[in-house]
Amino acid sequence: MRCYRSDSIMWILLGVVALATSATACWSSVTTVSGTHAPETVCSGAMIFSDDFEEFDLEKWQHENTLSGGGNWEFQYYNNNRTNSYVRNGVLYIKPTLTSDQFGEGFLTSGVLNVEGGAPADRCTNPQWYGCERTGSAQNIINPIKSARLRTVNSFSFRYGRVEVRAKMPAGDWLWPAIWMMPAFNAYGTWPASGEIDIVESRGNRNMLSNGNHIGTQEAGSTLHYGPFPALNGWERAHWLRRNNQGYDRNFHRYQLEWTPEHLRFSIDDQEIGFIAPPNGGFWDFANFGGNPNFRNLDNPWKAGSKMAPFDQKFYLIMNLAVGGTNGFFPDGVQNPDPKPWWNGSPTAPRDFWNARGAWLRTWNTNVNNGEDAALQVDYVRIWAL
Ligand SMILES: *[C@@H]1O[C@H](CO)[C@@H](O)[C@H](O)[C@H]1NC(C)=O
Repeated sequence: MRCYRSDSIMWILLGVVALATSATACWSSVTTVSGTHAPETVCSGAMIFSDDFEEFDLEKWQHENTLSGGGNWEFQYYNNNRTNSYVRNGVLYIKPTLTSDQFGEGFLTSGVLNVEGGAPADRCTNPQWYGCERTGSAQNIINPIKSARLRTVNSFSFRYGRVEVRAKMPAGDWLWPAIWMMPAFNAYGTWPASGEIDIVESRGNRNMLSNGNHIGTQEAGSTLHYGPFPALNGWERAHWLRRNNQGYDRNFHRYQLEWTPEHLRFSIDDQEIGFIAPPNGGFWDFANFGGNPNFRNLDNPWKAGSKMAPFDQKFYLIMNLAVGGTNGFFPDGVQNPDPKPWWNGSPTAPRDFWNARGAWLRTWNTNVNNGEDAALQVDYVRIWAL
């Protein structure tokens, strides 16, 4: 009798304890976070950052303000302007417009554009590659497109986790949308030593072929960039493509990354498109940088890191819509209904592009759907801890 009673009390007590712990259960996670919008404690499996774009929260999303062209001499001027980035009915739009809409056409060849501002939110965010001021001339025109690039550099960065971004890619010739991540602290040095994680990139051309493959709206790619210096970047061994003959501009798709201390997995709508699990020698061995005949006695910048280095540090999210550029993302010699109007070796690429606007501007459908066929549209961003 006595035994029975103490047993039942014990079971009741255990039940109370179990209820209490399950209500507040927080199993620790390997995921780490930082930033103004990072949670104080990271529980395994918990959502640690999200935005449904019910409003445009500029505390989460810092705008880039620069003419620098992303290091690829891209043709856009990234600015903080609600014509180029805005939220409506739960969707974020990043939409390209013409610089001449604001400053006039003559400005491109004769104006001076200084994007450095006095207010904290108006500072030029990237001075590299003449990013804060450019002077237009007949040869060297001012960036002819205005667009936007948003980032969580101050609000949120994380190491390891799962990312899902539901987005619709833009359609229009020479548009280059990207949803990607950059290292928050460059623990292994400057690009590409600290890595770059490209969740999705595509091209807006509806009917562009390269070597017989559709490389426009029907293709989406994921890529890792990593290497001791720009001339030695192992991205070709960590680059994956997926084709969809519907076109990624027709519907929203879920672009996903699973990033653990063992691997990175890229997926679209839960279908894996790329997977990489580096060997114990890490990305240095994976890309065989030690055996490169052109570069001897290289120092491995990741020797003090884990095998995932440089992908064992915190990264922040970036979403942008670029245009053109001369780095070969738009290869010379592609077949497009209207030929590519610039050579990647041309010193006048922005001018050559601008002079062909009669061809590409039609494809941006600026007169229908509020010009939003040419916009990168994002329904939500969600990030979970492992
Ligand atoms: C925003 O962009 C529009 C369209 O290019 C332009 O007319 C307007 O002046 C810009 N606003 C600011 C504050 O720069």
